[in-house]
Amino acid sequence: MRKEDFGKDFVWGVSTAAYQVEGGSDLHLKGPSIWDTFVRRKGKIFQNQTGDIACDFYNRYTKDISLMAAMNISHYRFSIAWSRILPEGMGKASQEGIDFYNRVIDFCLSLNITPWVTLYHWDLPQMLQDRGGWENREIIYWFEEYVKLCVRSFGDRVSQWMVLNEPMVFTGAGYFLGVHAPGRKGLKSFLAATHHAALCQARGAAVIKSLQSHSLVGTTFSCSHIEPHHHRERDLVAAAKVDALLNRLFLEPLLGMGYPTGELKILQRIEKFMRQEDEKSLSFPMDFIGVQNYTREIVTHAPFMPFVKARLIKADRRKVERTLMNWEVYPESVYHILKKYSAYPNMPPLIVTESGAAFEDQVTDGEVHDPRRLRFIRDAISQVGRARQEGIRVEGYFIWTFLDNFEWAEGYFPRFGLVHVDFKSQRRILKSSGKWYAAFLENASAEELLPLKQDVSY
Ligand code: GAL
Repeated sequence: MRKEDFGKDFVWGVSTAAYQVEGGSDLHLKGPSIWDTFVRRKGKIFQNQTGDIACDFYNRYTKDISLMAAMNISHYRFSIAWSRILPEGMGKASQEGIDFYNRVIDFCLSLNITPWVTLYHWDLPQMLQDRGGWENREIIYWFEEYVKLCVRSFGDRVSQWMVLNEPMVFTGAGYFLGVHAPGRKGLKSFLAATHHAALCQARGAAVIKSLQSHSLVGTTFSCSHIEPHHHRERDLVAAAKVDALLNRLFLEPLLGMGYPTGELKILQRIEKFMRQEDEKSLSFPMDFIGVQNYTREIVTHAPFMPFVKARLIKADRRKVERTLMNWEVYPESVYHILKKYSAYPNMPPLIVTESGAAFEDQVTDGEVHDPRRLRFIRDAISQVGRARQEGIRVEGYFIWTFLDNFEWAEGYFPRFGLVHVDFKSQRRILKSSGKWYAAFLENASAEELLPLKQDVSY
């Protein structure tokens, strides 16, 4: 397997998200987001850690992006922190915040790296949460204002946009389970947030296109290949429900198919939040769909589980190889998901906008050897190649993630990066997986490792 097997237009990149890497959270630099607030609630985050400093990308972006360039990475997906450019969520913009992203974008372009901008990667301005956040239908207008500001500020240099990052995760973890910001719980919050996020994903894309018709607009979905525990009727039904929830809930309305209420009756309660015309406003012809895949899920019937009557059997219980997230190591999952998604009529091209794995890393003599991460990424890429060979339109692959970073409720414990970060000293070391990716992008065969031209620690 070589890079050239994927064709010269295939997009190769890395992904990050603002709150997970930037730091720069002082109030004179940025308005507070729901994550700034949530991390201060005791017991919510592993060891009560915060993203206040994270990778200090706010101050170190030139060195980090220079390393990307030295690794032959030509596309960088990052997100804009809404409250950095609109500290109160709406109204007065912060020129200082806008200038930070101007510098990042300009620096990328100066090194021939194409910026891919995610508009919302979970860090809602706290001031908007104080008014109900995603549960308040007004968010459609708040979001529209924010999207317009982004396109007007950066659209002369950015033409690849992703509207939302994994709406299922931020509504599920943030508004149903309460384990992510803003820590809301319950079905009512979840369904309201879901419907408004689904409306915003379509509306946001329409706004970008109306201001910048040549842009390439997509949005991203978390998705996992799902299998029933046993081939018996009740597990099949349970698996279909989990599939509707995890893989279809936000995709199908976007494709004009409405919510998947057939398998998941509980979703009928979204009706309560629907207004006339909403059904139509949920759909939009995206230029691409971002697929974010890490593992597969095995599902069993669970009569006492509310709403879904289903349960995931986690990797440790199944005694299979797993990552630090307790996710099964199963790189084939991305192939199955690409196949499943590409079978929808009118599906635009797919781009894998996140794929990666967290393993324990050790620094030995200033180096980090991470063969398991390297193998996972190489195998996932080869599964993407398999999908392409079968004629599936998948046009890009972004690794999650460039730097070890703040992994939400898990804090700094799970390391996903191609680059190791010592969070005390902020020293970076390129891991073997990063060296492998650099060599692969230079068109070495998947088995070779080439020496990098520049210093790989700083
Ligand atoms: C995704 C998310 C990323 C990152 C990754 C690894 O759900 O978009 O921000 O945390 O998972 O868990």
